[in-house]
Amino acid sequence: MTTDVRAAHADPAPYRALAHAPQDRHIDVIDQRALPHEIVSLRIADAETAARAIRDMAIRGAPLIGAVGAYGLALALDHDASDAALARAHSALDATRPTAVNLRWALDRVRDRIVGLAAPMRAAAAWTEADAIAAEDVAINHAIGKHALAILRDIAQHRGGPVRVMTHCNAGALATCGWGTATAPIFLAHAEGMPVHVWVSETRPRLQGASLTAWELAQRGVPHTLVVDGAAGLLMARGEVDVVFVGADRVARNGDVCNKIGTYDKALAARDNGVPFYAAVPSPTIDWRASDGAGIPIEVRAADEILTVTGRDEHGRTTRVTIAPPSTPALNYAFDVTPARLVTGIVTERGVAQATHAALAALQGDRTAP
Ligand code: MRU
Repeated sequence: MTTDVRAAHADPAPYRALAHAPQDRHIDVIDQRALPHEIVSLRIADAETAARAIRDMAIRGAPLIGAVGAYGLALALDHDASDAALARAHSALDATRPTAVNLRWALDRVRDRIVGLAAPMRAAAAWTEADAIAAEDVAINHAIGKHALAILRDIAQHRGGPVRVMTHCNAGALATCGWGTATAPIFLAHAEGMPVHVWVSETRPRLQGASLTAWELAQRGVPHTLVVDGAAGLLMARGEVDVVFVGADRVARNGDVCNKIGTYDKALAARDNGVPFYAAVPSPTIDWRASDGAGIPIEVRAADEILTVTGRDEHGRTTRVTIAPPSTPALNYAFDVTPARLVTGIVTERGVAQATHAALAALQGDRTAP
């Protein structure tokens, strides 16, 4: 991919989830745990810090996890480029978060690119590959945005007022290297003057909708309203949602979509109310080895994320409060699987496919899996 192509797809937003200058042997990311209150930059200059940033969700979102994982491998190779060190770093980074397949995809891509090289050549080649993954992600998301924009234009033609999009969690620029996936068509529509309004579901327990998606929409001037996760059904039943766009952490080859917990509920409500439901999915998010969603590993995070809420008080102090009896058992599944039958379409950088193996394989060309 040339520099010109990258520039053509550049996300005009004033913030970047991840930055790497070619001469640097570190990356800078936004520590997303501090948003929306503060923009805190976190420097990642070794593989252990990269792994911690992914595990503790300083950075998150499937494509960004993949890119940071790739840079993490490059950082490990800067330190020790032996086969043993490569295998150790690959498995340590891979173990940080289990559901987003982009992580394994990016780690494998960097490893496969450098494994045949002599040790002194490996680190530089890994940095180049990580840069390519990050740049391609921006172009992929822009292309997804263009394809999904056609869906919004179609709705706009039949509506008098703004196109009302519902999204869940954060599949925005903060979850990627630019544009976001589910948000890309929204940003493009807004930029071309189409009236849009976004229903942002808060996304318990970590509140990526409230703290990240709402922040991104505000940064770009896109009209939006925050609602509790449980409001989706009512809004759809009242005819106040025209389309649902969500991201994905892994899509099985039959079109089952694994995404943030609560996505399935939205798809059910959408189906019951005749609202189209699309998943915006970069190719690296399709797991051709997964025949259906049943085999996708679902991350279980600490119960503490459900039992407590962290926010800012009126004095600007970050405060953590308990919201349930301290001994209450809580089960924190981080993702769910929306069956393909509830998915109207899967938007990839190559176009829009029905959520079936045949349609996905036809769209993705040579990526047909058994
Ligand atoms: O737990 P998170 O915040 O990493 O979950 C993120 C999501 O579920 C996103 O929808 C998904 O990764 C797609 S991001 C383009």
